[in-house]
Amino acid sequence: MRKKVIAGNWKMNKLFGEAVEFVEETKNKVVSQDKVESVVCAPFPYLPTLVEKANGTELAVAAQNMHFEESGAFTGEVSPSMLADIGVTYVVLGHSERREMFAETDETVNKKAHAAFAHNLIPIICVGETLDQREANETMTIVEDQVKAALAGLSEEQVKASIIAYEPIWAIGTGKTATSEQANEVCTHIRKVVADAVSATAGDAVRIQYGGSVKPANVDELLSQSDIDGALVGGASLEADSFLQLVEAGA
Ligand code: G3H
Repeated sequence: MRKKVIAGNWKMNKLFGEAVEFVEETKNKVVSQDKVESVVCAPFPYLPTLVEKANGTELAVAAQNMHFEESGAFTGEVSPSMLADIGVTYVVLGHSERREMFAETDETVNKKAHAAFAHNLIPIICVGETLDQREANETMTIVEDQVKAALAGLSEEQVKASIIAYEPIWAIGTGKTATSEQANEVCTHIRKVVADAVSATAGDAVRIQYGGSVKPANVDELLSQSDIDGALVGGASLEADSFLQLVEAGA
């Protein structure tokens, strides 16, 4: 039985006071980590404070990106050791917005996945197709290539501990959710790709989230699917009430 993971990805939203208020409002209301993992993916400047505020509660804090190098001349970047040092526990890697706007590639996502595990950070690895790719019937191939590339060289234990977020790009922030069947079909395929590439045990264990216009009104239906183990949520994670409803749905 895979534990569900509900992650709210705030992207480049909220001012500091709003971020703190959100964590104060939710940290003692989220469901026990034994039942569902609740994660907020916050902008870099807020991470130390939010980690401190959430310390000792059931709410975990994630970064939305990181570099794969340890240190050095990488102006503007944040290293895995910096995140681990301040107590961050998850990191989103390869979000489509980073792939599209910031030249993230399968190769850098793979390097970042290795770097995450070297620092005990759980990676949330994002994959997904564009609308053109879906219309050209390339979804399964695109997603398969992204998953294999991201996980290359990781140990079986690391793959089992990874979280993969399937986010069809055409469903992100558009209000167009993939139907639960469409979403599950791809998540089932991802699980098979992991099973074939790594092991049946890894395929069974890896958690696969769906992301793309998830909200309280559609989350139950999505989470009831056989291969969907949680959600990576943008817009609907910005309000505390809505985030808490999504977490409840995962329990
Ligand atoms: O990381 C989250 C996804 O990009 C989904 O965003 O829920 O606003 O569609 P959205």
